Amino acid sequence: MNQTEMSQAELWDARYRAHEAPWDPEPNPILEAEAAGLVSGKALEVGCGEGSDAVWLARRGWQVMAVDISQVALNRGRQAASDASVEWRQADIMNWEPPNEAFDLVAAHFLHFIPADRAVAFGRLARAVRPGGRLLYVAHHPLDLRTTLRRPPNPEVLHSAEDVAALLDPNDWEILAQDARPRLVKDADGNPVTAHDAVLLARRLPG
Ligand SMILES: C[S@@+](CC[C@H](N)C(=O)[O-])C[C@H]1O[C@@H](n2cnc3c(N)ncnc32)[C@H](O)[C@@H]1O
Repeated sequence: MNQTEMSQAELWDARYRAHEAPWDPEPNPILEAEAAGLVSGKALEVGCGEGSDAVWLARRGWQVMAVDISQVALNRGRQAASDASVEWRQADIMNWEPPNEAFDLVAAHFLHFIPADRAVAFGRLARAVRPGGRLLYVAHHPLDLRTTLRRPPNPEVLHSAEDVAALLDPNDWEILAQDARPRLVKDADGNPVTAHDAVLLARRLPG
């Protein structure tokens, strides 16, 4: 089977099989900063990969549903943290609707979709937040395309925090943060580079 015949799930599984721990195995510092002060409740993470963020939340008392399209990634998360209170679930956010208004925190980090798909996926994540709950959406910022960092080949999949904030109804949401947040990283050749993350944190207004 060549790449064009593989489903998205098969492509992501193949990517995980080709690399042990393809992403930073530490929890995302933006999640740590934004969730540290919250009272724990029910959390949904979509695109959880090998689960470092989901496990970080679970160990802080959250009841977590961790969703990814790749069963290979989910199996690794489950094996690495079998004691954590995480429900690991294989699903493609493009054709799975999470439970409506069910979560105190919905998080997605580094899911990169073309704009039409982004609107569908983001809408599903937003609907899953209960009134009073929060939505945290983090992605590589388009500013990274001006650096030597390796980023998704299609620039359309990158966006600012404002781009996704614009998808939320201002009558229903309070924007708590929409930033291009800098962090110092190294590129593939080991050179220091300032990366920017598009960070949207929004609170669904109580009904
Ligand atoms: C770049 S990785 C980021 C992983 C993790 N969130 C992190 O920050 O390290 C993107 C993740 O999204 C998952 N993914 C991609 N498309 C997806 C989809 N349509 N539905 C659910 N998960 C998806 C991939 O399998 C992968 O684990």
